[in-house]
Amino acid sequence: MKKYTTIKSLQSALTEYRSKNYQIGFVPTMGALHKGHLSLLKKCLTEDDISVVSIYVNPSQFNDKKDFRNYPRNFQSDLDLLEKNGCHIAFLPSDNEMYPSADTRAFDFGMMGTIMEGKYRPGHFNGVAQIVTKLFDAVNPHRAYFGRKDYQQLAIIRKLIHDLNYSIEIAECPIVRESDGLAMSSRNALLTSNQRRVAPLIYETLYKVRDMIYRNDIPTINSFVQATINASSLLKLEYFQIVDTFTLSQITELTPEIPSTACIAVFVDSIRLIDNIQLIS
Ligand code: PAJ
Repeated sequence: MKKYTTIKSLQSALTEYRSKNYQIGFVPTMGALHKGHLSLLKKCLTEDDISVVSIYVNPSQFNDKKDFRNYPRNFQSDLDLLEKNGCHIAFLPSDNEMYPSADTRAFDFGMMGTIMEGKYRPGHFNGVAQIVTKLFDAVNPHRAYFGRKDYQQLAIIRKLIHDLNYSIEIAECPIVRESDGLAMSSRNALLTSNQRRVAPLIYETLYKVRDMIYRNDIPTINSFVQATINASSLLKLEYFQIVDTFTLSQITELTPEIPSTACIAVFVDSIRLIDNIQLIS
């Protein structure tokens, strides 16, 4: 595996691959890698000739400084994992490389950017768009891999690609879960054993919602989720919302004609976890 820390050195290596007509796949990450990230890399390895994985904890997408400070960083074990899993290129830029000067660009995703994560993490998607566009420009891949775990982020990246006319194909990857259902997340490493024990209730609740959709009673579902999550003293519901899978607009009726996804954010004490489940496909 080759490692690059500057855009210039990365680009000169990629230019060579491109001249040989190799397809370049790109997996952007913030590190603290787990099987969810590795599933993106695995898919990339089957679909592209060259895999590029970036590791960069992007400060501009953290609305909460403490969350940024506490974000898990396992640089060396990440590199070992990437190497072991067949990654061709690791891109490991510094802050100065990604932000030589303050990024003043402001992105507007309309309603998509103001609900759910956009509402509770103001500025988050602006920071995601800043770094993802910079990374796309640095790597210029044929295909980029994103997980459904961050469902709203995926929808926003699709919109970004469309609005800015990037000719990058987005490959969508399913959520990888622990055996008890908890969605894998870098933040899971921050959970104490007590917190870890209750965290699977998030997915259990979403799973039960899937059995409730035939009654088409969204207010009852909302109350059920609120009561179930908040019944645990360690959990606190931040939001639960059923949205149109493609437009992310809020759904008022559960009908087979409208593909829908239920999205949730829960605090496990101070650790904020998100998850989602497709209700009607
Ligand atoms: P990060 O949270 O490290 O996630 C990197 C990619 O891995 C995202 O596309 C995310 O959806 C995917 N992923 C994380 N957990 C997953 C799981 N359990 N199953 C499947 N995919 C999973 O998302 C970011 O970083 C950043 O916002 C980034 C796009 C890199 C921009 O900084």
